[in-house]
Amino acid sequence: MALICDALLRAPARGRQGGKGGPVSQKRIGILTSGGDCAGLNAALRAVVHHAVLGFGWEVIGIEQGTLGLMERPIRARPLTVEEFDGTLLRRGGTMLGSTNRGDPFAFPMPDGSKADRSQAVIDGYRALKLDALIGIGGDGSQALLRRLAQQGGLNLVCIPKTIDNDVGVTEISIGYDTAVQAVTYALDCLQPTAASHSRVMILEVMGRDAGHIAIVGGIAGGADVILIPEIPYRIEHVARKIETIRTRQGRNFALVVVAEAVKTEQGERVTVGEPGGGRYGGAGHYIGDLLAQHIDAEIRVTVLGHIQRGGIPDARDRVMASAFGVHAVDLIAEGRFDRMVAWRDRSVIDVPLEDVIAQPHVVELDGPIVHTARALGICLGDA
Ligand code: F6P
Repeated sequence: MALICDALLRAPARGRQGGKGGPVSQKRIGILTSGGDCAGLNAALRAVVHHAVLGFGWEVIGIEQGTLGLMERPIRARPLTVEEFDGTLLRRGGTMLGSTNRGDPFAFPMPDGSKADRSQAVIDGYRALKLDALIGIGGDGSQALLRRLAQQGGLNLVCIPKTIDNDVGVTEISIGYDTAVQAVTYALDCLQPTAASHSRVMILEVMGRDAGHIAIVGGIAGGADVILIPEIPYRIEHVARKIETIRTRQGRNFALVVVAEAVKTEQGERVTVGEPGGGRYGGAGHYIGDLLAQHIDAEIRVTVLGHIQRGGIPDARDRVMASAFGVHAVDLIAEGRFDRMVAWRDRSVIDVPLEDVIAQPHVVELDGPIVHTARALGICLGDA
């Protein structure tokens, strides 16, 4: 998919007036997807291309592999056409542009193991493409980096929130989250019959990074008995007691336990794989399984759901949200309003300053309705 057309670099943005957008002048806008992929990204790209090209008569340049596409030479970018979105991409997971969550341009990993500041190369790439604006579809980390680049280079930036983790500040929902929750719910639907058949405790480790949204919402939907999230410290004795109660007082022979990947050890240490002391989250489910085995007399099995949560077919809500976000991002550019992120609040698409987004990550509210619902259902959250 790598490509660059020299013609693109040489061509000035065409100078005609917009379509239904009226007096909005011709623009060439870039778009990239950054960070971990998720379901709904292609739907957002489709919405941007349709609205910008058909609505305003602009050009849309798709940049490959996030900011890497602007950093590399030749630049990896290509015009996106309405024809490409022929009806299949809307339905597909992943991102047709590719993405990376390993390419911080301010501390870029070099082949010799050192880190280099490659931010100016990204800014030069934006200028070389003669872009009037850039739409960055990313999570909180990507948005912080893109904003830094925009401030350094004077780029006109609008962001769209995406992440299965749903931890982007200010917006209630990010693209990809709903499909990930569906995957967790489906996994629990699959685990319950086999748990019941074999009288087992089934532990399901789910993603979400430092936020427990996927775990608690997917856990409630899938009928979990115990849900451990990073926002609520647990004691394994409480978990063991809940499972004993299910058996002795409710007469049930199985239990379903959801563990968010960022749940720590009882001593408060992160559970990770990869580089010692850092690395990626991984292993929390097995850690809790081993710990629980010391406290209960039951067979325990652990399932790590992993990237299945990221790669699925986008559900209806993610497709619609991605479409609405894409349209609103184009409207912001038409109005010349930059340094903003589109967001979802109170059943509406709004836009907010990027500064506010970066300042406050969105974690599970301990006194919010979801935690209240879980407790009212008798779900053990590990703290009682
Ligand atoms: O941020 C999205 C996410 O899927 C997290 O939930 C998870 O911790 C991480 O990305 C996994 O990253 P990678 O794809 O690099 O394994």
